[in-house]
Amino acid sequence: MPDLFIRAIQDDDIKPVIALWRDCGLLRPWNEPEKDIAFARANLNSEVLIGESGPAVTAAAMVGHDGHRGYVYYVAAHPDVRGQGHGKKIMVAAKDWLVQRDVWKMNILIRKGNEKVIAFYEALGAEVEPIVSMGWRF
Ligand SMILES: CC(C)(COP(=O)(O)OP(=O)(O)OC[C@H]1O[C@@H](n2cnc3c(N)ncnc32)[C@H](O)[C@@H]1OP(=O)(O)O)[C@@H](O)C(=O)NCCC(=O)NCCS
Repeated sequence: MPDLFIRAIQDDDIKPVIALWRDCGLLRPWNEPEKDIAFARANLNSEVLIGESGPAVTAAAMVGHDGHRGYVYYVAAHPDVRGQGHGKKIMVAAKDWLVQRDVWKMNILIRKGNEKVIAFYEALGAEVEPIVSMGWRF
């Protein structure tokens, strides 16, 4: 198994990354991943990081901050490589990306029904916080 090489997304990676997110069950009809990627890339305070294992994109995460806190979205490790550290490595890269920008806290939102990933984030040191997330769409 080749090492995971992590870098910022480039134009040619967009389709494989969206395919990865689809394979990982992260796409939703009300979200447009192309638009999300373009928006993240257009701003200095956000990025899409991808992990390459040989020629394949096997991990990805969207990271950013809002001037107050860091966030990570679309965290994915391909089903064929689960349990081999790809998810952890992309999360460490997201954390490093934030630390390099003097951000000192990273938040993650987990959808209801996907609580099984709580154990993954706990293994990386995160804690469930007493917060209810609310939102608007414009
Ligand atoms: C969550 C996900 C990224 C984990 O990727 P992964 O490559 O399998 O995880 P890793 O192998 O890097 O595991 C890192 C640590 O988490 C633990 N872990 C991973 N999945 C776990 C699970 N389902 N239950 C308990 N622990 C888990 C591992 O044991 C490991 O612990 P260690 O460092 O003490 O050995 C992957 O399962 C995925 O893409 N899931 C679908 C998409 C998704 O739900 N993303 C999160 C949206 S909030």
